[in-house]
Amino acid sequence: MPWTRGLVVGLMLAAAPAVLMDRAAAQTREPGGTPEAAVQALSNPHEFAWQLFLYLNRQARAGVAGEVDETKRSIAEFDPDRSVVWETWGLASGLDIDFSADPPAITANKSEVFKNPATEPVPWEALDRGAGVAKTLSAPFKSSPLVASGINRLVPRKQFGPLIAPPGTNPRSDETRMNRSTYETVRSKGLYSVEGLEAAAAKAKADNARALVNFEPAAKEVKARWIRLRQCDANPDCAEKARYHWRSVQTAAGATQIYGLITLHIITKDLPNWFWADFGHIDCEKPEGECAHPAVEGRPAMTPLVDPTTKATGGQRPETKNTNWANYRLRGVQIDFVTSTGTPTILSNPVIEATFQNSSCITCHSNATVGIRSLASNAAVSLPFFAGRKSVLNAKFIAEEVGRPDCQRFVNKAEETFTVPCPGIFDDQSKTIYFQTDFLWSLPFRAFSATDQ
Ligand code: HEC
Repeated sequence: MPWTRGLVVGLMLAAAPAVLMDRAAAQTREPGGTPEAAVQALSNPHEFAWQLFLYLNRQARAGVAGEVDETKRSIAEFDPDRSVVWETWGLASGLDIDFSADPPAITANKSEVFKNPATEPVPWEALDRGAGVAKTLSAPFKSSPLVASGINRLVPRKQFGPLIAPPGTNPRSDETRMNRSTYETVRSKGLYSVEGLEAAAAKAKADNARALVNFEPAAKEVKARWIRLRQCDANPDCAEKARYHWRSVQTAAGATQIYGLITLHIITKDLPNWFWADFGHIDCEKPEGECAHPAVEGRPAMTPLVDPTTKATGGQRPETKNTNWANYRLRGVQIDFVTSTGTPTILSNPVIEATFQNSSCITCHSNATVGIRSLASNAAVSLPFFAGRKSVLNAKFIAEEVGRPDCQRFVNKAEETFTVPCPGIFDDQSKTIYFQTDFLWSLPFRAFSATDQ
């Protein structure tokens, strides 16, 4: 009976405008990628960071990559032990290397983007998000002294072992993921292999471009750190489950361990040099609780929390009240290399950047580059390189560098005395050796060769 249906809809519209408006407000599309988002990222960056957090940590729709479960209307509605939106994005991490073997052995590679040998990632819709897919966490490499100080070039490869814990023994675990826009750009431009990245660098040189790729404004990437919540192994009702976003993880031996999220780096291409935000669990500020376990290697936070949006609520976002998310704090945001008065900006996390907290996301990431092989020195900071495989070559970087990028670095060979002066602003790229990957470290850090193993 069509007229009754019309009447019912009409009545609903008349009687429940507040509900409908509320529903429209419950955002179902990923924030970012619009001119309005760019304005908010610049003019109200802390609020923008929270809009990202409140969306990306909503429960994901089952079976597909990168969508919210619309039956859960906000971050406050969720079922335990389920993926949130960013956990269903394309997996960039997933590689495990056993450095105690000589030569180092690749023991697993569950990456959906950076495979070995490099092959084209599947189309986004074909990413398997079925119920049977296990949570994949990997050993954290970035905070290893190897990466933090770039000393890999000086350390004999057989000494890598003690510097990076063997897979499965490290209670800290990382997860790096890319959203659909980032994933599709990497896939369509062939930036998942050494050969693809080097071809793009050669093309950038020919085209007089500083970067070998420019991601779309909707591009995003996250890097998360998880720690084991040990009390939960024996006690399914452990208190931590109400204080952390937690997931069950199967060990290789078949045991179930509970991991809690402690850090979430979120970056978006809403600004030309990206928008940078860092969220951390409150326990890791001191650190205390499980975050104080020696194996986490967290340090007391050396930088203050900077979040004007939660001044009145002691750092807690009202939307997260009475949820696990109430324990997460915005540590700060970064939108430029220096302030308007010329002071270098700093943003770091006490766990991921534990030993180099006076550092700058945007500065370190500006060094994410791919060298022209015939011009570059044989130096790299990358997982394939550590594992003794072919990798891209990249520019030198120092972990605690802050402020503007060092222009000499892009026109001189890494690890050699810099003799070539910085190019002028109107110069072409004829002197350039290292081309930027548009601030994404995962490309040069993780890409294997398609042919040369
Ligand atoms: C000293 C250098 C350095 C600093 C400082 C640094 N990072 Fe990174 N970052 C890396 C490296 C190397 C990787 C690649 C390794 C990985 O994926 O674990 C990476 C990976 C990432 C990723 C995954 C996406 C990608 O491809 O780059 C994100 C997101 C990220 N970092 C955000 C941040 C944020 C936010 C900060 C500041 C709070 C920060 N980083 C500070 C070096 C750095």
